[in-house]
Amino acid sequence: VTPLAPGGHVHAPIAYPVTDPSSLDWDVGLGFGLITTAGYVRYTCRSGVWDDGAWVAGSTLPDLHIMATALHYGQACFEGLKAYRHADDKAYVFRPHANHSRMAKSCARALMEAPPLDKFLNAVRTCVARNMAYVPPHDKPGALYVRPFLFGSGPKLGLNESDEYTFIVTCAPVGEYYKAGGKPVKALVCGEHDRAAPKGVGSCKLAGNYAPTLLPAKEAKTQGYPITLYLDPATRTYVDEFATSNFLAATKTKILTPDSNSVLESVTRMSIMQLARDHGFTPETRRIKVSELTEGTADGEPITHIAACGTAVVLTPVYRIDVPETDATGKTTLRRIVAAGWKDMVDADQEPTDAAMDAGESDPLMKLGNELRAIQKGQRPDTHGWLWPE
Ligand code: COI
Repeated sequence: VTPLAPGGHVHAPIAYPVTDPSSLDWDVGLGFGLITTAGYVRYTCRSGVWDDGAWVAGSTLPDLHIMATALHYGQACFEGLKAYRHADDKAYVFRPHANHSRMAKSCARALMEAPPLDKFLNAVRTCVARNMAYVPPHDKPGALYVRPFLFGSGPKLGLNESDEYTFIVTCAPVGEYYKAGGKPVKALVCGEHDRAAPKGVGSCKLAGNYAPTLLPAKEAKTQGYPITLYLDPATRTYVDEFATSNFLAATKTKILTPDSNSVLESVTRMSIMQLARDHGFTPETRRIKVSELTEGTADGEPITHIAACGTAVVLTPVYRIDVPETDATGKTTLRRIVAAGWKDMVDADQEPTDAAMDAGESDPLMKLGNELRAIQKGQRPDTHGWLWPE
């Protein structure tokens, strides 16, 4: 590297340090900031042939071509799953086979080489094993978030698929995603932008689906909403999903989640729907009209509770959703929807208090979410065989 101007300042590479695991305070909520771990697992596929994989210390990728298709044309996808330390001091990963299937779907849509299942599982297993010191202790909150990702690393100038793909599994210890720390949050419906196109790629976990949600999310956050909700892009009358996670709603007898070709099917959502069935709820995956949130379902049942669910957010209750509505004069006002189950407890202008939170234990979605967390931590029997290795 030579400076452009004689004696000019040149940006020096940053030596990203590996976090010393003994410096981590497991009692303090870790949040979802990035804590770097010892290293990652990397596989490369050239012209359709996968190598045998390597362990790489640290968190940087020094040999990437600047014309890699991922950097220019967004040929990239990722996954998220979690590993939990059980009382036997071993780490168990939640449903990695489901993440592999979803990654294969993302790869197929963007003409990328999907990693074979054995390499995917081996990368997850090795990444967790070599970063075992970063898996939160069994009796502390949190988990090791595991992030597999795959991208076109080969160079192209024309718009073509890459000849080379890099598949990496990295990880970081995490706590609660939202600052509310598991307490209910309020959501803003994104009125100005769509997350996906009607026949687009919303159901694939492609990297490019996420950057466009940053601006609306930032605007929403400055207005006090930690989470943004997207409606169906064709008619904007049905619920799709949150920027970070899937949408769940509960009535007295049913747990509902949107059927839409533009939502990403979350592994957490599949699991919650199964637990709902186990508890005698009718799980319904169907189109959900925004109007049902206030008027109830066609069979007259009010929607009592709403939540966001996904690997990162686990299950985060949503006590209020504000929907922007524009009148004939072009003036936009916010229509406030407070989930019926929270109505008596929450003064709509206040964040839910701890007392409201305790009262919220009547929330069936929170109950299902707590049961899921207990299964993941090994504190309840894993009757569905979700934890890996079994
Ligand atoms: C996950 O829940 O694992 C995700 O990938 C969502 C991401 C916005 C953190």
